[in-house]
Amino acid sequence: MILLDGKKTSNDIKDEIAVEVAQLVASGSKKPHLAAILVGKDGASETYVNAKVKACLKVGFNSTLVRLDTNVTQEQLLVEVEKINFNSDIDGLIVQLPLPSHIDEMKVTQAILPTKDVDGFHPTNIGKMVLNLPTYLPATPAGILELLARYKVETSGKNCVVIGRSNIVGSPMSILMARNANPGNCTVTLTHSRTKNLIEITKTADILIVALGKAEFVTANMVKEGVTIIDVGITRVKSNKTKSGWKLLGDVDFKGVKNKCNFITPVPGGVGPMTIAMLLKNTLLSSKSNLY
Ligand code: GUN
Repeated sequence: MILLDGKKTSNDIKDEIAVEVAQLVASGSKKPHLAAILVGKDGASETYVNAKVKACLKVGFNSTLVRLDTNVTQEQLLVEVEKINFNSDIDGLIVQLPLPSHIDEMKVTQAILPTKDVDGFHPTNIGKMVLNLPTYLPATPAGILELLARYKVETSGKNCVVIGRSNIVGSPMSILMARNANPGNCTVTLTHSRTKNLIEITKTADILIVALGKAEFVTANMVKEGVTIIDVGITRVKSNKTKSGWKLLGDVDFKGVKNKCNFITPVPGGVGPMTIAMLLKNTLLSSKSNLY
């Protein structure tokens, strides 16, 4: 079993980005600049956004964090998005999801200029991804592709099963794994809450990508020998074995399945750090303006 080490790989990518940033700045260009909008006080979102800001600092980017109250109106939020759209110093803008229920997430996503949409969530960028045109790929799926590529996991002609059809991970992942690209060229099955006989399907997987948000959902009886497992889940559960009183669990019963796997991502330290690295990569790309 080989561990797909997202922590190490993301640090490698951040080092590569830092070198490029230093070269850009030395040649007189401005530093890449990422802006994030965080609405409310959701603990997980706070953690993710803080990690993104810290990563910007590490690679030499500028960052701007706009914090808005939970009760902010949709109109007020759209005004903030518009300000950043028109700020020529800012290369990339993310609005951390989820948003409070009184705000229409899709409306906000569509208000972000596609050229600054470094999350790759805007319909224009999703469309480009589907057509295999150069674009900002959504960061988590892009991070998974990068891990598969750097560890030389063969994907061509393999059966890939994706569990979960979210806009952020499952749906784009299924499209990317089926594309005529490397990594890609898989025969993909996208499964979800209405799927019948899930175990029969997961047992056919050469590559199993799990993104449904249910702790330790995938167990050893659901997978075949030699499978590659990508675990996107991250659920915080109480624990009396850790100092903090909490531990993080993936969507996969890691201990139970690991001996059947050729490759597997750990949680934490697998997909999570890759998401941030790919967000930085998209922001660097935007600052070089060579996509649009
Ligand atoms: N919420 C969970 N993942 C993400 C992400 O990749 N980007 C944003 N903006 N919000 C998220």
